[in-house]
Amino acid sequence: MRTSTAVTEHVSVTARRLLLSGQKFGDFRDDLARDGYAVIKGAIPADRAKGYADEMYSWLEGFNLGFKRDDPSTIHKDNLPEISEKGMCHNYAIGHEDFVWQIRSEPGVIKAFETVFNTSDFIVSFDAINFGFPNRTDLPPNKPWPHQDQDPENPGFRCPQGLVNLLPNGPRDGGLLACKGAHLVSEEYHDAMRVQGEDRIPAWTNEWYGLKDEGMKWLVDRGYEWVKVCAEPGDLIVWDSRVPHYNVSTETDKPRFCIYTCYMPAEDATQEDLKRKRDAFEKRLGTPHWPNALAIGDNIAKRDGKPDPSNRSRPLREPVLRDRAFKLTGIPYIQE
Ligand SMILES: [Fe+2]
Repeated sequence: MRTSTAVTEHVSVTARRLLLSGQKFGDFRDDLARDGYAVIKGAIPADRAKGYADEMYSWLEGFNLGFKRDDPSTIHKDNLPEISEKGMCHNYAIGHEDFVWQIRSEPGVIKAFETVFNTSDFIVSFDAINFGFPNRTDLPPNKPWPHQDQDPENPGFRCPQGLVNLLPNGPRDGGLLACKGAHLVSEEYHDAMRVQGEDRIPAWTNEWYGLKDEGMKWLVDRGYEWVKVCAEPGDLIVWDSRVPHYNVSTETDKPRFCIYTCYMPAEDATQEDLKRKRDAFEKRLGTPHWPNALAIGDNIAKRDGKPDPSNRSRPLREPVLRDRAFKLTGIPYIQE
């Protein structure tokens, strides 16, 4: 696996130039540059978004563990595959289910990232899926974990993350909270934390930085506000990896479903990255949000500390990828 320094060297110069230039675009890029996040309305038509949400429900019911979409009393970990208190589902090859690939290759989603990157040659992460159900008293509390998904030692605009929202998602329905505009003071923030002698919260990668109370206070003292990003079914939310963010659980009786969709110009991945990513695709394994396959999952969910008997290594419905979607795997960019 290559170092995070190497990641920076390959990151899209085009995207950085455009978004840091101060140029006005008259579209969502202005919001992304100013606020650190943006909502692209109707990236997927509402009827198709509803269809995808239905497929997500069917996927859960398909485990035959007792979950029924119309019966809230069945929302319990015993009746569901492994879903964290943050709503994340990583295993069971879900990242390669056909409906997930369809969402990743939706024209409106692709177009948004083409607009950001100014190229059509990019690859996608095989990231988690989020099933946020209400009243999860059967799981530990979803404590705030404000973070940046980027190594402070590699500053600058490097990665637009994304998620496709599939159910109505209002102010109290759970989902993404972002510290509006704080990406623009990220370097100043980290300089201040270094002066304070902050020890970083341990993480599996330097490409994740967790904010502590002192850091949260630094932002609040300077007037930065945490905003719940709301969205309708089919809206695409994009955010700069530097903007502090986390998710919250729904406070209503409504669930929150979304698919994470993070893309990166193909030129930003090394041949080694692309081969590692091909291996993940062929084995139907997941990755974190970094599309260059910074790490590879194992499809081994745990239930009560042991491998879940419901584990599977292939999707329920294998993805059928047309040319556009197949390019997103990165495989066509491998030179052999
Ligand atoms: Fe994150």
